Amino acid sequence: MTSHLVTGIAELVTHDERFAGPLGTVRGAALVVEDGRVAWVGPAGSAPAADRRTDVDGRAVLPGFVDSHTHLVFAGDRADEFAQRMAGAPYTGGGITRTVTATRAATDDDLRGRLGALVAEARAQGTTTLEVKSGYGLDVPHEERLLRLAREVTPETTFLGAHVVPPGTDRSAYVDLVTGPMLAACAPHARWADVFCEPGSPHAFDGDESRAVLTAAASAGLGLRVHGNQLGPGPGARLAVELGAASLDHATHLDDTDVAALADAARHGGPVVTLLPGVELSTRSPFPDARRLVDAGVEVALATDCNPGTCFTTSMPLMVALGVAHLRMTVEQAVRAATLGGARALRRDDVGHLRVGARADLCVVDAPTVTHLAYRPGVPLARTLELR
Ligand code: NIG
Ligand code: FE
Repeated sequence: MTSHLVTGIAELVTHDERFAGPLGTVRGAALVVEDGRVAWVGPAGSAPAADRRTDVDGRAVLPGFVDSHTHLVFAGDRADEFAQRMAGAPYTGGGITRTVTATRAATDDDLRGRLGALVAEARAQGTTTLEVKSGYGLDVPHEERLLRLAREVTPETTFLGAHVVPPGTDRSAYVDLVTGPMLAACAPHARWADVFCEPGSPHAFDGDESRAVLTAAASAGLGLRVHGNQLGPGPGARLAVELGAASLDHATHLDDTDVAALADAARHGGPVVTLLPGVELSTRSPFPDARRLVDAGVEVALATDCNPGTCFTTSMPLMVALGVAHLRMTVEQAVRAATLGGARALRRDDVGHLRVGARADLCVVDAPTVTHLAYRPGVPLARTLELR
């Protein structure tokens, strides 16, 4: 077994309570990796010897970003729809079916190539764990195919057959398909199931339909996630609490009852709230209030939602910057949400932190502090640290 010592770390975020502040920060730190895991972490002066050494020369290091919400398997492009939105058109979810048409027409190799390029793009910016959803197939063979392809790049795959009702399809027949043959074909390739619960959208699912989808998925052994309260108020948050979902995602429009229910559930492992501020940026919508949730005791995650419709970016550093600039987060809250928060949204305890035993997923920042992620928005400072 080879041990690898990382030195020259001006600021190290560990999320280890033995160390200082809300992020378990060590200044002038070193870290030892053995067999892909963190074996030692602490002040450089007391670091043990190791077989190899990498010096990061006064940079900041944090756990690799955990992007717990993406839709990375698709074909086609909807830049025209984005431009129309910027000229005043609203987002309704109707464009999803354009991506479905392009995705169905693509070959496996085409989809694999696009997916691989997006994963590489994310990794180059410091993301080391990714969740990937289906949802652009919307029939049994295509949903199954998207999950098979997603499984090639991550164990965190999510069945989203209930993304929208395909045009011209009877709603209740489609819910029967999703909860029956589609779920049966997809469950072997998925860890999670998700539903676009948005009663205000003619394309998405109402509370009862969403409950039917999630209940069937839970019976098939899948963990639950919910797209809810994105375009307006709705039952998504309360459904996520009621059904014990791991995460409520978007959560842009929460009322006091929703926040109280989420806060109450948070005391016994209730849903993480995953905020996706790239969506508000790219749909020109009001941003959610993360501070309100954090102050209520709710664990918040930040993720990209990377998809061709509402937010076509893989950049977790941008999410940290938006969290600080627009969601009322402190720098520490945003950094936690993009790392430990994402890990908790995926119920993973081996990533999102750098305590001894964690996977040695490291993000290095070309700056002396992690504050620079938000202080220098849009500057490509973060990358995954590859140890060789
Ligand atoms: O998370 N809200 C639903 N689904 C995606 C958007 C998908 C699309 O427009 O292609 C989202 O924002
Ligand atoms: Fe999404």
